[in-house]
Amino acid sequence: MAERTCILVTGGAGFVGAALVRRLAASGYRIRVLDNFTTGDPAHLAGVDAELIEGDIRDPRALGAAIAGAGAVVHLAAAGSVVMSVADPAANFDVNVVGTFRVLDAARRAGAGRVVLASTGGALIGDAAPPVDERSLPKPISPYGASKLAGEGYAHAFAKAYGLRTISLRFANVYGPWSERKQGAITLFFRAIHRGEPIVIYGDGTSTRDYLHVDDIASALQLALEKDVAGGTVLHIASGTETSVSELADLCRAVAGRPDHPVEYRPRRPGEVERNFAAYDLARQVLGYEPTIGLADGLRRTWEWFRDEVFAPAEVS
Ligand SMILES: NC(=O)c1ccc[n+]([C@@H]2O[C@H](COP(=O)([O-])OP(=O)(O)OC[C@H]3O[C@@H](n4cnc5c(N)ncnc54)[C@H](O)[C@@H]3O)[C@@H](O)[C@H]2O)c1
Repeated sequence: MAERTCILVTGGAGFVGAALVRRLAASGYRIRVLDNFTTGDPAHLAGVDAELIEGDIRDPRALGAAIAGAGAVVHLAAAGSVVMSVADPAANFDVNVVGTFRVLDAARRAGAGRVVLASTGGALIGDAAPPVDERSLPKPISPYGASKLAGEGYAHAFAKAYGLRTISLRFANVYGPWSERKQGAITLFFRAIHRGEPIVIYGDGTSTRDYLHVDDIASALQLALEKDVAGGTVLHIASGTETSVSELADLCRAVAGRPDHPVEYRPRRPGEVERNFAAYDLARQVLGYEPTIGLADGLRRTWEWFRDEVFAPAEVS
């Protein structure tokens, strides 16, 4: 039998990793995960055919051992919180900029065939008239957005200087199962509903986002691994649909069967963009990417996952 291609997934025990590793393992790849479990959890990969290595992407020895023999890398490990990046920009820089540099450098030395980087749409572009796309001028308004732009810069430079086949995917706001440790709106809204506490909205509820189910992100990541795309390419992976935070809260309340659950409005937080959604035409053209899960359907599935897997069934009234 032919040797299966080994893929190193950094941060594979996190939220996106849980969906991606399952998908790649089911597609026949041999998966190795390097994760320091800061926000990830080995339980996310329970029962999945993947090798788990506990270690930090900033540790060249751990990274060198993890990357040995890998045909490709998907780099998901990051400090992913906009709010925490505003509070502690140095810590964010260390993981996201130094860490991403180390991953690219290790991939170059190991001769990896492809490196796929997780980047971000909204936080990297900043306040721009949506829909944004690959021609929009990046103007990050948080240290997190700036760190992801730096990673894209190194990915492009490593493609040109060393021929490393990098591709950066700018994710929209991702939601779905295994997001119980995330601080994103959907996780917090479902938790609030479950606990009987008001849903908290920062700002007046008119700010908008582009929400994408994690299975659509995982399918885009797999396409990025498998399609022959020029090194240094950057693509927006999005739903192309703009949803306000108030609309999102209404949908969350509806799928949870609590349409009258209370909502509390608090002052807007710094570093957050006001309006954001992205066009994915280039990803469709280059990867054949197309989102398949609508927001109402995806939220219903996510609520059911939270209800069955996170909130003890006996606690749900
Ligand atoms: N979730 C989203 O909405 C979203 C949107 C845009 C971009 N992204 C990007 O997608 C990627 C995955 O995000 P996620 O939502 O799964 O986040 P996550 O926090 O659930 O996963 C990140 C994983 O990386 C690990 N990690 C963090 N620092 C590490 C380090 N120094 N060494 C080794 N492992 C480390 C964590 O333990 C965790 O398992 C990140 O790069 C994030 O910036 C996510």
